[in-house]
Amino acid sequence: MLEHFQSLAEKFSVNPDAFALSGGREVVRCLGDLDGCFRDAVSYSAALACGNPVLYRVIAVEPASGSGDLHYGLGILYPGKVGSEYYLTKGHLHRTREAGEVYIGQRGEGFMLLEDEASGESRLETLGAGRVVYVPGFTAHRTINTGTVPLTYFGIYPANAGHDYGAIAERNFRKVLVEEAGQPVLKDR
Ligand SMILES: [Fe+2]
Repeated sequence: MLEHFQSLAEKFSVNPDAFALSGGREVVRCLGDLDGCFRDAVSYSAALACGNPVLYRVIAVEPASGSGDLHYGLGILYPGKVGSEYYLTKGHLHRTREAGEVYIGQRGEGFMLLEDEASGESRLETLGAGRVVYVPGFTAHRTINTGTVPLTYFGIYPANAGHDYGAIAERNFRKVLVEEAGQPVLKDR
């Protein structure tokens, strides 16, 4: 049994400096994949006309998918803005709504925007090196990079959580995080 765990540890090792997590499956999202996510559609089109940079990468590891199992992943969100709005992830709810998640900041500066699905109540949590953010069930969550270097973080979630992007794509988050006078400010969309 110990050998089994040792081989798992070797197979799934994390290297935040190299923005790598071995043994995982990588998803890459570019600016063009985030149509409708940013508040300022004019700035979004202008930015896209200049290029289609990678905004973020997520490397997910799914060691087992039985009852009680966990999945985990490394997120790398690059710095930048569309208009005055910081680069962000699409954000999602879990398909299994009651599934929670733990995020652990590794590098960089940023936030997680949380929004309770039923009440719409929003909350901004700091996510950076050494910061832990607990995402309760029934809560939409999105990561935002307000710094000048890639924001990297670890996420750990139940194997059956799943990802529901559709609900967010329909109505988006109620709040936006924009830069005003050099500071991040949370505003109504
Ligand atoms: Fe999640």
